[in-house]
Amino acid sequence: MPQGVELTELDKKVLAFQEQGCLVPKKSLIKTEEQIEGIRRSGLITTGALDLVAQEIRAGMSTQDINDMVHDYTIKHGGIPAPLNYEGFPKSVCTSVNEVVCHGIPSEYEILEEGDIINVDVTTILDGYYSDASRMFVIGQTSAENQKLVDVAKECLEIGMKAAQPYGFVGDIGYAIERHAKKNGFSVVRDLSGHGVGLEFHEEPDIDHYGRRGTGMLLVPGMVFTIEPMINMGDWRVFVDEDDDWTVVTEDELPSAQWEHTFLMTEQGLEILTY
Ligand code: MF3
Ligand code: CO
Ligand code: CO
Repeated sequence: MPQGVELTELDKKVLAFQEQGCLVPKKSLIKTEEQIEGIRRSGLITTGALDLVAQEIRAGMSTQDINDMVHDYTIKHGGIPAPLNYEGFPKSVCTSVNEVVCHGIPSEYEILEEGDIINVDVTTILDGYYSDASRMFVIGQTSAENQKLVDVAKECLEIGMKAAQPYGFVGDIGYAIERHAKKNGFSVVRDLSGHGVGLEFHEEPDIDHYGRRGTGMLLVPGMVFTIEPMINMGDWRVFVDEDDDWTVVTEDELPSAQWEHTFLMTEQGLEILTY
């Protein structure tokens, strides 16, 4: 440590965990007040875009229409849609219908029908700060089993949120989520995870939605990350569409549902930054 640099109480506390052999976050993963305010402002756009989708989404609309809505809203509010050109992703939002797990690419040829379930995943950059959230939308009325999947996936996010406690561990989150999914006869996608977010789209740590309590990185106030469980009606296995290299689909082609928020860890537990 450079001379004259004082350790804060938080630094000392984290150091003590590290000395016990815990995996602890590096300093850049603990956001400053200024950074948190930036991510919070970015989150307002993400939430606003999803609220707009909630108002407008209906049968007969294409997923391209949803893309355009999110794109225009984001730009109008001074933001940048993070998915556009991200590692070659061609659109401004992910739209994942029925058996598509995530990373669905909007298309003018994909028309929403009564009974479809769709995840819309919005990530905004505002003044360099990233916020990431997604919701499920049901087009009209869907089957009872689809509705249960959508509801249980949402409960999984809420339960994961409650399981995340300051000075707990990343594994506590996945343990709680997997338990709830399994109790309801559903499975948890293992190939994709939540993630640190804020200064970049995807930061450390990965937040698995399955796992064991007390494992993985220590959760420290000031960390900002997503929880975004993908819950499958059937088997947890998925594949990536070979034609577009993006679309993630369930192997058994049964439906999948996902909800996501960006969270700030505080001394009192998680605060939602995309509410
Ligand atoms: N928003 C997704 C997530 O929750 C990532 C999408 S990457 C993209 O992490 F390129 F498909 F947009
Ligand atoms: Co995310
Ligand atoms: Co997302």
